[in-house]
Amino acid sequence: MKKIGVFTSGGDSPGMNACIRAVVRTGIYYGLEVVGIKRGFQGLIDKEFIPLYSHSVSRIIKQGGTMLHSARSKAFRTKEGREKAYQNLLDENIDAIVVIGGDGSFTGAHIFAQEYDFPIIGCPGTIDNDLYGTDFTIGYDTAINTAMEAIDKIKDTANAHDRLFFIEVMGRDAGFIALSAGVAVGAEAVLIPESPTDINTLVALLKENYNKKKTSNIVVVAEGDDAGGAFKIAEAVKERFDQVDMRVTVLGHIQRGGKPTAMERVRASRMGMEAVKALMAGQRGEMVGIVNNDVVFTSFKQAIKYNNEINPVMLEMVKILS
Ligand code: F6P
Repeated sequence: MKKIGVFTSGGDSPGMNACIRAVVRTGIYYGLEVVGIKRGFQGLIDKEFIPLYSHSVSRIIKQGGTMLHSARSKAFRTKEGREKAYQNLLDENIDAIVVIGGDGSFTGAHIFAQEYDFPIIGCPGTIDNDLYGTDFTIGYDTAINTAMEAIDKIKDTANAHDRLFFIEVMGRDAGFIALSAGVAVGAEAVLIPESPTDINTLVALLKENYNKKKTSNIVVVAEGDDAGGAFKIAEAVKERFDQVDMRVTVLGHIQRGGKPTAMERVRASRMGMEAVKALMAGQRGEMVGIVNNDVVFTSFKQAIKYNNEINPVMLEMVKILS
């Protein structure tokens, strides 16, 4: 193996740059050439290759976003697109790839690796923390800190006006951000897709809090909750309980940006380094993860097939501690 490629794919996440840096520096340390591929799988098809040197990744460890840009490629879902990508890799003499992304990216990587028997190792990059085979995905820690800081601020004004707030956080299919941010801010309720939402139970809790004269109520809603987003849930609550003044805030893409936290940088760097070492050791078709502070590898097939499980203790904490 002489030359490796690296790219970021799917929704970007803080810490992706730290991971790119680690891939580049580890590759160079072991005498490999490293090529950056811009805009993920789409860049593979469009030949958006740039040589990366040690200095190319100076100072990016502290930056959000991704210096390689990211995309969700429709063309790569077609056989023709993948064929073109493969030809481009051959033309460029790229022997192996590190892909930093979420389950959509690993699905693409898995199909491609099987079709062309191409060595690929994945690093889990998504704020959602929804990948099986790792305790933490790159971006999650920063996203929950961003959400926590924003909700802390909302809580100040909620308290000042005795208001009920429904705050929607990201998580299309997963409630990890909602749950962790919810516990961190002392939310009264957290609604996540992994646990069925019953509006009547929620209303009963809010009425009880109202009767207890709680001055602020914060309900954190994962965008993918089964009862709908924050606006829909607020409407449903209002129909049953309109004594309290309520507002809705959708935090949105603020959660995807910003400086990665210290732990984010450390984990992303470790995963990037281990990804290159794994390729050098002949591993392929696997995702690097960190479980109980140890590096573990999970096949793309399993990482895609299984879900990262919510810890029920977190839901219990919301109930008991609020
Ligand atoms: O997968 C990461 C994520 O941020 C989800 O939480 C969210 O639903 C989605 O991406 C948003 O995607 P887009 O940036 O394309 O709107």
